[in-house]
Amino acid sequence: MTSRDPWWANAVCYQVYVRSFADSNGDGIGDLEGLRSRLGYLELLGVQALWLTPFYRSPMADHGYDVADPRDVDPVFGDLAAFDAVIADAHECGMKIIVDVVPNHSSDQHEWFQAALAAEPGSPERARYVFADGEGDEPPNNWPSIFGGPAWTQVPDGQWYLHLFAPEQPDLNWANPEISEDLAKTLRFWLDRGVDGFRIDVAHGMAKPDGLPSIPADELKQFSELLAAPEHDPRFDADGVHDIHRMIRSVVDEYPDKLALGEIWVRDADRFAMYLRPDELHQAFYFGLTEAVYDADEIREAITSGLQAAESVGSHSTWTLSNHDVVREVTRYGDGELGTRRARAMALVELALPGAVYIYNGEELGLPNVDLPDEVLQDPTWERSGHTERGRDGCRVPVPWEGNEPPFGFSTAEDTWLPMPPEWRELCVEKQLEDPGSMLSLYRSAIDLRQKNPAFTGNTVEWFAGPAGCFAFRRPGGLICALNTSGAPVPLPPGDLLLASGPLAEDGYLPTDTAAWLA
Ligand code: GLC
Ligand code: CA
Repeated sequence: MTSRDPWWANAVCYQVYVRSFADSNGDGIGDLEGLRSRLGYLELLGVQALWLTPFYRSPMADHGYDVADPRDVDPVFGDLAAFDAVIADAHECGMKIIVDVVPNHSSDQHEWFQAALAAEPGSPERARYVFADGEGDEPPNNWPSIFGGPAWTQVPDGQWYLHLFAPEQPDLNWANPEISEDLAKTLRFWLDRGVDGFRIDVAHGMAKPDGLPSIPADELKQFSELLAAPEHDPRFDADGVHDIHRMIRSVVDEYPDKLALGEIWVRDADRFAMYLRPDELHQAFYFGLTEAVYDADEIREAITSGLQAAESVGSHSTWTLSNHDVVREVTRYGDGELGTRRARAMALVELALPGAVYIYNGEELGLPNVDLPDEVLQDPTWERSGHTERGRDGCRVPVPWEGNEPPFGFSTAEDTWLPMPPEWRELCVEKQLEDPGSMLSLYRSAIDLRQKNPAFTGNTVEWFAGPAGCFAFRRPGGLICALNTSGAPVPLPPGDLLLASGPLAEDGYLPTDTAAWLA
């Protein structure tokens, strides 16, 4: 880290899924006041910034990613005064606040969409959304929605409107200047209230290709996966999107030291890097580690391409193992004791890297995904897929804080918005804080070292040759990080041990599914 680096360059940031973090008023749903009451915990964890998922006015068809008024707080989460209190207290604790904005679509309850429904085809009200005529009973093209089913819904006068996500999330028409003016107004509204940056939802969406071409039939199948956005998907990553990011950047730059961070599910490294050009976004979520299976070669490959993409445009990398849209890593890596051991190792790999790290709430507790019963599922994917895809609820179960039974201090209500498993008594914050061997203690030590130890400097990594199934890299400041996925113990690289994700073998070897930091 050099003194010229912006605050986000190497920050450890923490994603608060507000609904699941802490409930202050006993309705079983997390809220802003609940978050405020737990800021001390986040300070103890040592994170430098919080990203809050949407808390704006919303009918909650997609838990807040369907925004009915982007410049107000939904009563479920509190009010503007509660937000102001969160930001004031977070700043007091030295933490930055990043808020989500959702420019690709609005809620169907947004006053604009209600006006569009009431208006005629061809009217200025309809021109704020993507309305089109179909062919008889057929929609204008064959695009599927990310949540299953067609991306088009027909209205009574016969026209169709586009929704890449749920029908309750109509896509905005970014060819209409009114839409960018309104987003600029929203950005300034929150910047004036003191936010330090924005996470831009579906930042590879928004612009639509001319003529809205259908997807070739033989490619259609691969486009039904959640947010996979493979190459040549006409729904995402249209060239026109970059003008929108230049507009966003110019508004954000009116205020000093503010971050524009995009959610960009674009696999092609060169196309991904385009979003990070000097007049576009400062940073973007890179999902290489989220998608890599637990294998040293694959993880190394993901790291290399993430570093290269950022470097090619003079930006700073970001790393993330999970978020509210993907299966939690403990589960992805094999669940139970094995999955936890591997997740511990990956936490050290991630926190050893140059760039920003985004931790999803509960990751620092080693929470696994939860197998929820059918009747409690709420993600629109469950209904839209005709009950074939269970959706994302399993990674969104509320955070367990203390005590011996649900709701573990998350709420005073027994009925939390998603049920919490009784086995999570072992994973509560309170228990883990006292246990030096817990996942939480590992995260705290690792974050502390990363912040204070001069070995964690320099923006590059140098790879060592090592045994198959293992890797080790060195940062210019002297930090060495070694990971063993090989199935057998291997010798450690030379250096003094700073931290290991699990006990070393008797001869000082690095056991499998373990990572170590040396300097
Ligand atoms: C983003 C969000 C996801 C949401 C979708 C639609 O991918 O992370 O939770 O469902 O956008 O807004
Ligand atoms: Ca609440």
